[in-house]
Amino acid sequence: MPIRNGYDRALSWIDELGLDAYTPAYSTPTGAIFKIDAIEMLGSMPGDSVDLVMTSPPFALSRQKEYGNEPIERYLEWFMPFCREIHRVLKPRGSFVLDIGGSWVPGTAVRSVYHFELAVKLAREFKLAQEFYWYNPARLPSPAEWVTVRRIRVKDAVNMVWWFGKTDDPKADNRKILQPYSDSMKTLLEKGYKTKKRPSGHEISENFARDNGGSIPPNLIQIANTESNSFYLRACRERGINPHPARYPETLVKFFLNFLTDPDDLVVDPFGGSNVTGAACDAMGRRWLASELVSEYIEGSIARFETTPLLDPTRTKVADPGI
Ligand SMILES: C[S@@+](CC[C@H](N)C(=O)[O-])C[C@H]1O[C@@H](n2cnc3c(N)ncnc32)[C@H](O)[C@@H]1O
Repeated sequence: MPIRNGYDRALSWIDELGLDAYTPAYSTPTGAIFKIDAIEMLGSMPGDSVDLVMTSPPFALSRQKEYGNEPIERYLEWFMPFCREIHRVLKPRGSFVLDIGGSWVPGTAVRSVYHFELAVKLAREFKLAQEFYWYNPARLPSPAEWVTVRRIRVKDAVNMVWWFGKTDDPKADNRKILQPYSDSMKTLLEKGYKTKKRPSGHEISENFARDNGGSIPPNLIQIANTESNSFYLRACRERGINPHPARYPETLVKFFLNFLTDPDDLVVDPFGGSNVTGAACDAMGRRWLASELVSEYIEGSIARFETTPLLDPTRTKVADPGI
């Protein structure tokens, strides 16, 4: 069970990170969440201390979420101060992974380019290691006016996930996120492969037929964000708590934890929401810190830590080798 409103003294590393003046809303053996402004939490922390910042901030949506969203025209001005703090707290080989959805120019069927403008601006302060696309096949068609009523646009089902390094060599290892081979690749591994030139001109060597334990994933990540029967939603309903309206899937977080961090590394989510990041870190033995402004979201997120006995020391080991 998480500890409410008090440090587990085992977490003295949090005090050492400049957060001794703040009382967490709750803490677990691996981390803590604070009901404070992200700028305050990040601003209190020393430079070069964080391995990964993984987050999904409020997007610049034309249809506002209940927690409030900055309009497109003010978005960069609002978001950049957080990014400067994120840059400062990252270790030299640390990463910043930013899940951000697209938007429409209000009242029109024209796409906003705010998330591309943001990436261009961030690429001047960070190094763009790679762009990922999170494809959510379960996304509902919207905006209804353009997609389901006038039928002049298609369903927008992809979020950009920008991966930035503080320097051009962020810690990463794609051998930790290998996917099962396809059936045709398995056959090829069994029967062998004859060296030949592809129509594209690429020379395919014999190394292609070497079994490396799995295939290297692409930068398109397919995860259906369907949590309708999950423990979290049920627990919120039972306790009369409003569930968070814009959660990202734990599988997305685990992908980047596996790829970019090691056990015990420190991961920070400044826009914690329902604390998916903290729960994923807890399951995988990473230390975590989060901030969130809305008490109800923090209250609901406690359910994520109640399904398994957190004080079991075996849970500090990596439990999930892949996604
Ligand atoms: C898109 S949601 C994050 C959802 C989260 N990834 C999850 O899966 O539950 C963004 C969150 O940022 C919070 N937020 C907005 N401004 C904030 C700030 N200045 N400091 C801390 N949290 C903030 C909002 O209340 C909202 O819960």
